[in-house]
Amino acid sequence: MIVLTGTTGGLGSQVLKHLLPLVPASQLTLSLYNPTLSNTVHFPAGVTVRRGDFGDPASLDTAFAGAERLLIVSYPSIAHELRVRHHVNAIDAAKRVGVKHIYYTSLAFADDSVSEVMQAHLDTEKYLKESGVMYTIIREGIYAESYPLYLGFFDKSKTDMYVPGDGPIAWVSREDLGEGTARIIAGGGFENQTVLLSGSASNNLTLHQLSTTISRILARALTLHVVSVDEYVAQNKSPNPDDPRGSEDFLRKWAKTFDAMRRGETARMEAYLEKTLGSPSDADKEALEQYAK
Ligand SMILES: NC(=O)c1ccc[n+]([C@@H]2O[C@H](COP(=O)([O-])OP(=O)(O)OC[C@H]3O[C@@H](n4cnc5c(N)ncnc54)[C@H](OP(=O)(O)O)[C@@H]3O)[C@@H](O)[C@H]2O)c1
Repeated sequence: MIVLTGTTGGLGSQVLKHLLPLVPASQLTLSLYNPTLSNTVHFPAGVTVRRGDFGDPASLDTAFAGAERLLIVSYPSIAHELRVRHHVNAIDAAKRVGVKHIYYTSLAFADDSVSEVMQAHLDTEKYLKESGVMYTIIREGIYAESYPLYLGFFDKSKTDMYVPGDGPIAWVSREDLGEGTARIIAGGGFENQTVLLSGSASNNLTLHQLSTTISRILARALTLHVVSVDEYVAQNKSPNPDDPRGSEDFLRKWAKTFDAMRRGETARMEAYLEKTLGSPSDADKEALEQYAK
């Protein structure tokens, strides 16, 4: 039996979609943070639904019971300690109930990453490697869909974008990541390994290259300004305290992502995804076009 977490989210839903043709639904269990969703959201026939909250270890014991393989989709938060604690809870529960193989969705930055967002993943990876349970760490490439976050919180109303650095990113769609992850889980192998799911060379684009493409799609001039971190914070700070961008601390932490990009951390590529899915995905262009129109 395979237990999947995060299947109501952007990545996990794609993993589920692409696992269904590969594995009988009766062998799939969804561990849901909010199982009442199953009253309104249509989950595929035959799958089992259980409640599993990363913040409630007892619920995870029940949710993961009987699993041979477990997918832990990383908890979506920028709160480092909470995020790591949630992952540790999931790994500990898996160990308690005898899960044989844990798959963890990490992120496509370097082992010695200077980015803030990678630190919780690196701590989790270390804990998982030392857990004694067989693992596969899947370093998921940077979502093409998340490009506005990298491009000075771009939206269609903008002409000028302010970023604290530039560098290439091997962009990849969440759908391709979901399919690659599903194939890894269903196909076996990758025992005690770390695998990078990256976009292909044709999708390895700097922010400048990306802004040129968006400019072409919108048929109007856009200017990308590479500025100091102070200027970046000043230009992007939101007056809304409920918006993460309302916090200067958030913006300064996020700015470290651009240091990582400059170091080439997000430009690394591995052939697995392209080899497995066939032709190189041009998903970033599709996402751009959808967003920019
Ligand atoms: N590779 C990239 O470029 C990239 C970009 C952005 C984010 N990420 C990270 O990748 C991960 C997956 O991304 P995503 O787009 O799928 O995120 P998402 O759409 O926000 O989905 C997150 C999933 O986590 C579940 N969840 C929330 N709180 C939970 C809890 N306490 N216990 C158990 N599950 C909980 C959510 O359930 P509910 O639906 O019930 O809330 C949802 O299924 C996240 O860590 C995200 O931060 C990666």
